[in-house]
Amino acid sequence: MEAVYIHIPFCKSICSYCDFSKMFYNKEFANNYLAALEKEINTNYQNEKIKTLYIGGGTPNSLSDVELERLFKILKIINLQDNYEYTIECNIELLTENQINLFNKYGINRVSIGIQTFNEKYLKFLNRNHTKEEVFNKIKLLKKKGIDNINIDLIYGIPGQTKEELLEDINLFKSLDIPHISTYSLIIEPHTVLYNKHIKNIDEDLDREMYDLIIKNLDNYKHYETSNFAKTGFESKHNLTYWNNANYYGFGLGASGYINNIRYDNTRNIDAYIKGDYLKEQEELDFNTTVENEFILGFRKIDGISIDTFYNKYHINMLDIDIVKKLLEEGKLVNIDNKVRISDDYLYIANEILIDFLGVNYEKYSI
Ligand SMILES: C[S@@+](CC[C@H](N)C(=O)[O-])C[C@H]1O[C@@H](n2cnc3c(N)ncnc32)[C@H](O)[C@@H]1O
Ligand code: SF4
Repeated sequence: MEAVYIHIPFCKSICSYCDFSKMFYNKEFANNYLAALEKEINTNYQNEKIKTLYIGGGTPNSLSDVELERLFKILKIINLQDNYEYTIECNIELLTENQINLFNKYGINRVSIGIQTFNEKYLKFLNRNHTKEEVFNKIKLLKKKGIDNINIDLIYGIPGQTKEELLEDINLFKSLDIPHISTYSLIIEPHTVLYNKHIKNIDEDLDREMYDLIIKNLDNYKHYETSNFAKTGFESKHNLTYWNNANYYGFGLGASGYINNIRYDNTRNIDAYIKGDYLKEQEELDFNTTVENEFILGFRKIDGISIDTFYNKYHINMLDIDIVKKLLEEGKLVNIDNKVRISDDYLYIANEILIDFLGVNYEKYSI
């Protein structure tokens, strides 16, 4: 077991694009929720040593200081290895000095912040509530208090946004001097305000040009995953667990986990969750689906999938697989230093390539 994900579903305001498992913060729900979460963890966690603990949301720092401290005390049961990574997602306008003190007291060493954009017009469109000055001041405060392993999220492809406006955002993001940046092309998800207003996604060509613009301009970062950029040594260890198709617990409303070949999803119904009916569904994965996932997740990493690691996990020589051979010949995949990866020109259409890895009988290649 490598990682633990904890979901805190509360937010103080709801963004127009968000389809995450979330609800307005409410004190009574928060109290009952923390009690249910504690029970779920204590019942299921088997005391394994864990490399990364990640508190995501929702907005974990929408909890009061007392509730946050209660959460951190509950999580002390998680047995963290030396060199652990312990992340909390935060909304910057809610972040206070007291919260940062609590992070330090309980060993949290990484903070992930959804900034999305600095452009006031688009902040309003996305229903985000921070100012540029606030972002710069709070980040300075985090660093001053010793937390410099920080991620910031950027959203691009906002309807009406020009490449020049995106470049302004990129330059401001760069000027914050943060070691990790996650970028997301805006998706108009069903059940969101934008969807209900019939807002449409931007043109695909412009989306690609914006993706290229980001890659070109974040050249002082390592582009290590389709949408993620980091200074050396600051790659997200937690997210690498997912992309390496390794095991992790997911606790909380709507959380997902992957343990001993079983993938599970928790309920998104808060009443059911508080009653202790945590699980929504689970599925045992067969060998072929497990290998399929190894490719689909692993090819998100820019360096690709190690041939040796793949062999050790599945007793298959990756280069024997027909679809791998074909894509290598076509130049859509490349083998560099014994790692197979999607070649740069095809990165943007990775999903089209990954379809070819579905439904293959991998068992027949097993040695
Ligand atoms: C759970 S939120 C991050 C924490 C915090 N709640 C916040 O919003 O600042 C995860 C990130 O996913 C991205 N995201 C969520 N919904 C999205 C969508 N529909 N399209 C693109 N990016 C999205 C945003 O960048 C967001 O910061
Ligand atoms: S993006 Fe973050 S703050 Fe906004 S509604 Fe979703 S989880 Fe809440």
